[in-house]
Amino acid sequence: MPRLCISLLLLVVFISLLSFRDSIPRPHTSTSSTTIIPAKDDSLLGAAGQKGANAPAPPFTVSEVIAQGPNKVVNAEEKKKQEEENKRKEEEERRRRKEEERRKAKEAYDRTKIYTGTFNVPSNLVHDPAGPKPSEIVLLAASDGKGHNGGIDNILGDVTPNRQAYADLHGYTYQFLNISQYNIGAAPAVWAKLPAIVDAFNKHPEAKWIWWLDLDAIIMTPQIELSKHILSHEALGRKIQKGLDVQKSGGGSSGYLTAKEPDLNKIDIIVAQDQNGLNAGSFFIRRSEWSRMFIDMWAEPTYVEKNWLAQEQSAMWHLISEHPTMMEHVAFVSQKEINAYPIRNVQGMSWETGDLVVHIAGCWVNNECNNRWKEMMAQRVPVDEGVKAQVAAARGAARAPVVRAEGAEGAEGAEGAEGERVVHKPETAKVEQVTVPA
Ligand SMILES: *[C@@H]1O[C@H](CO)[C@@H](O)[C@H](O)[C@H]1NC(C)=O
Repeated sequence: MPRLCISLLLLVVFISLLSFRDSIPRPHTSTSSTTIIPAKDDSLLGAAGQKGANAPAPPFTVSEVIAQGPNKVVNAEEKKKQEEENKRKEEEERRRRKEEERRKAKEAYDRTKIYTGTFNVPSNLVHDPAGPKPSEIVLLAASDGKGHNGGIDNILGDVTPNRQAYADLHGYTYQFLNISQYNIGAAPAVWAKLPAIVDAFNKHPEAKWIWWLDLDAIIMTPQIELSKHILSHEALGRKIQKGLDVQKSGGGSSGYLTAKEPDLNKIDIIVAQDQNGLNAGSFFIRRSEWSRMFIDMWAEPTYVEKNWLAQEQSAMWHLISEHPTMMEHVAFVSQKEINAYPIRNVQGMSWETGDLVVHIAGCWVNNECNNRWKEMMAQRVPVDEGVKAQVAAARGAARAPVVRAEGAEGAEGAEGAEGERVVHKPETAKVEQVTVPA
């Protein structure tokens, strides 16, 4: 009996010990638990030897794996390989996405990026107030030869000899540049004007002034010499429109005025405005630090993105009109001086006999480009022997200091090749045209 009692007691003690062991909280495998708050004990208290339903499965032991056969070993290795392969693929995918993102950003950037490059401005560069020498003037035209000009037949065939003859007559350089070579992304072709100008400055290191002239323009009065006409301080001083009410796109006053007392030494761009503000179809730009900076700023991607009605022209308008420090460097002159239109009876704007150039701007609107072009081509003064003699005489007169002023004026008013008198309207006509409302 006492032995039985001892045996029972031992059994009770043994069972108690077992249940105590099972009640000790197990370390939890979950990463979210902390050691401060013990993991919930999910064992069934008191039920010795039983494990909780959610208790983690015991790890494989080597003997078990062996017991389950060699297939299990292969599967475990394959599983590991598979995991590594997945990881590698994920990494690859991540890299691919990143590259795609970068490529798209670059693409978006390039759509609005005009790669203009830059040009050299020698530190010892001096601009003579008398204007550039003929060899320092470049007439620039640029196009890809595709029809951006309202369907004028064979426009290059007309323009090339017209401008070449003018350049040869005075000793200027005529440069045609194919805009296909410039990287302007998805921007409209007119933006290629910017890299073309930079390119022309680079191709002609001697060039001090570039005359940008749209392709749809004709030199009508080739006798006119550019320094005497507009590039000398003497000429520009007479023709610059002081206190001009700058027009805005769509017409009307923009509220901006040109300088009332411009400093001619600062002028780097000479341009004319029509009823829509400045027209970028014909302008002169001088080699200078300022011009280099201006072109760089002009190529602003935000302007390209704006997709303004007049594209690069609108951008130029904004830069100049809205920034007084830019305006200081820009001279506005009457259209008839550098950018007359083939319309009738608008003072200062209409081309008249004796005006240097006609620009068939915006004629796609009424679709009669071709007719107007042919009409104007027929009216131009051809560079013949008479004109050559006239220009040579004017040059001779200009070389003689005593008669210089007289001779300079006389050249433009001399007999034209067609027997017409080439006359320039007196300056007062232009002043009337730009009357600023009080
Ligand atoms: C400009 O270059 C493009 C591409 O090389 C060519 O197709 C086109 O005919 C060229 N245009 C002119 C006017 O030279």
